[in-house]
Amino acid sequence: MITEDRTILELKPLENFVETDYVKNITHRAFHYIKAGFAVHFRGPAGTGKTTIAKHLANLLGQPLVMIHGDEELTTSNMIGGEYGFRSKTIIDNYIASVVKKEENFTKHWIDNRLTVACRYGFTLIYDEFTRSRPEANNVLLSILEEKMINLPISRGGEDPYLPVHENFAAIFTSNPEEYAGVYKTQDALRDRMVTIDLDFFDYETEVAITKAKSEVSIEEAIFIVNIVRALRDSGECEFSPTVRAAIMIAKTSKTMELLPTKDLAIFIAICQDILGSETSRVGSISKHLKTVKDLIKEIIEYQIKFFGNKNYQNAS
Ligand SMILES: Nc1ncnc2c1ncn2[C@@H]1O[C@H](COP(=O)(O)OP(=O)(O)OP(=O)(O)O)[C@@H](O)[C@H]1O
Ligand SMILES: [Mg+2]
Repeated sequence: MITEDRTILELKPLENFVETDYVKNITHRAFHYIKAGFAVHFRGPAGTGKTTIAKHLANLLGQPLVMIHGDEELTTSNMIGGEYGFRSKTIIDNYIASVVKKEENFTKHWIDNRLTVACRYGFTLIYDEFTRSRPEANNVLLSILEEKMINLPISRGGEDPYLPVHENFAAIFTSNPEEYAGVYKTQDALRDRMVTIDLDFFDYETEVAITKAKSEVSIEEAIFIVNIVRALRDSGECEFSPTVRAAIMIAKTSKTMELLPTKDLAIFIAICQDILGSETSRVGSISKHLKTVKDLIKEIIEYQIKFFGNKNYQNAS
């Protein structure tokens, strides 16, 4: 009997999920690592599709899903469970019939949290951005991944503290590189117990397909936008590389404003500068650096239109 069903997520197909050869290749490998009994870890910069691929993989595995989000404040107990609440009971005194005693019993009782639920019932666990939690909170994972055993506190109504992990349990982790702010180093022992797949920015075909699928712009418009984002990324001038998220945002905004094919180039450039500027710089407009990036974006767009633009973009040349 599962008591904590509110922690379980229903599997549902991902909206506008794009499955190019690049995506299929990663999913295929990850699926088989899991079938072979290993945990899988997607590691990579922001916006490289880690969480999306993890959810897609969970769908393929077909078991109910629980998700944990890494957090500095997360404790082991937040993951495995704890003792909560109290019971109250009414006692009727058999000797003196008129006496009814209400006895409040403050014994706490154990409630499984997400990790324990997943281990007990063989669900899929996605532990997103797990290196944002403090390493000691994650120690509980060591025996789960290696000995297939979860070590719970002893005083849980007499239940054995060593709970065997169900054979269908699967663990999928994601993390950002260690140099990101707010990220702890992965413990060696934990890294040793999972297969890490390093993700980088999407290949061209996938980036265009995602931009189109998520915004409903035409294929030509998606190509035009992705070319701008990739040229800026390849320039090496940004504090943070622009991601497919910026391409999606530019595409959606252009669609809403009916900007493409470029009707008002000045506005289109301003939108690209806002979106790409905010994604690639931490300090904003006070930064001299951002000014350079904004100039660069304008140059890139004008260059795109001049050399690669089709008739849709002629008015700007
Ligand atoms: N295969 C895909 N099909 C459709 N959209 C995708 C796909 N992969 C990623 N996306 C979209 O790209 C964007 C970034 O993906 P996602 O959030 O999975 O990246 P991430 O690596 O988890 O980023 P972060 O490190 O910032 O959490 C999202 O808007 C997501 O919907
Ligand atoms: Mg993510």
